[in-house]
Amino acid sequence: MSNTPALAGKHEIVPLPFAPTSLNGLSERLITSHHENNYGGAVKNLNRVEQELAKLNSDTPPFAVAALRERELTFRNSKTLHEAYFGNLGGNGKRSGAIESALAAAYETSARWEQHMRATGMGLGGGSGWAILGLELDTGALRTVSSGNHTQVLATSVPLLVLDMYEHSYHIDFGAAVPRYIDAFFANVNWEEVNRRLERAQRLSAIYRGLPS
Ligand SMILES: [Fe+2]
Repeated sequence: MSNTPALAGKHEIVPLPFAPTSLNGLSERLITSHHENNYGGAVKNLNRVEQELAKLNSDTPPFAVAALRERELTFRNSKTLHEAYFGNLGGNGKRSGAIESALAAAYETSARWEQHMRATGMGLGGGSGWAILGLELDTGALRTVSSGNHTQVLATSVPLLVLDMYEHSYHIDFGAAVPRYIDAFFANVNWEEVNRRLERAQRLSAIYRGLPS
């Protein structure tokens, strides 16, 4: 452990918010491996990178700092996005509430938005990255974005719904059949959690823009 509070290296793995046997069409083996190895690995590596960065002094070569900073951002965003991903699974896939009307307002119909989100995921199939529905703090708008790795996220976007498109998130169950994975993802979305995120993000956006609350 380091003595630098900003780089304490003490991040802990957040448990799955659902039983790994409970998802519809996503196997326990897939979910457990993803959570333990990919997400868990990012958390452990983030701690190690923070501990290395905490040792920074006037003799540390700038190229070494640059490499550590790149890894720091990669592991930190991987941790955040994986927690959002697992946190928006475990539901019944039935969209309702404020997110339904917000998506309809932004995309004409929420089905049209789903088409955008699925196509964004498909565009990353066979490779790596994230499809993300987020709320942009500086405008309050919903945005559907594609991130080819952990570090291409929209600058002021708060993730509402996160779809992991790294092959490790589906290959065990589906091989290269990306559309089947996206179907299974949508069948398990916890829209109640997405609605909670939307409500918090809208309040945060109002504060960010200096609007009266
Ligand atoms: Fe992942």
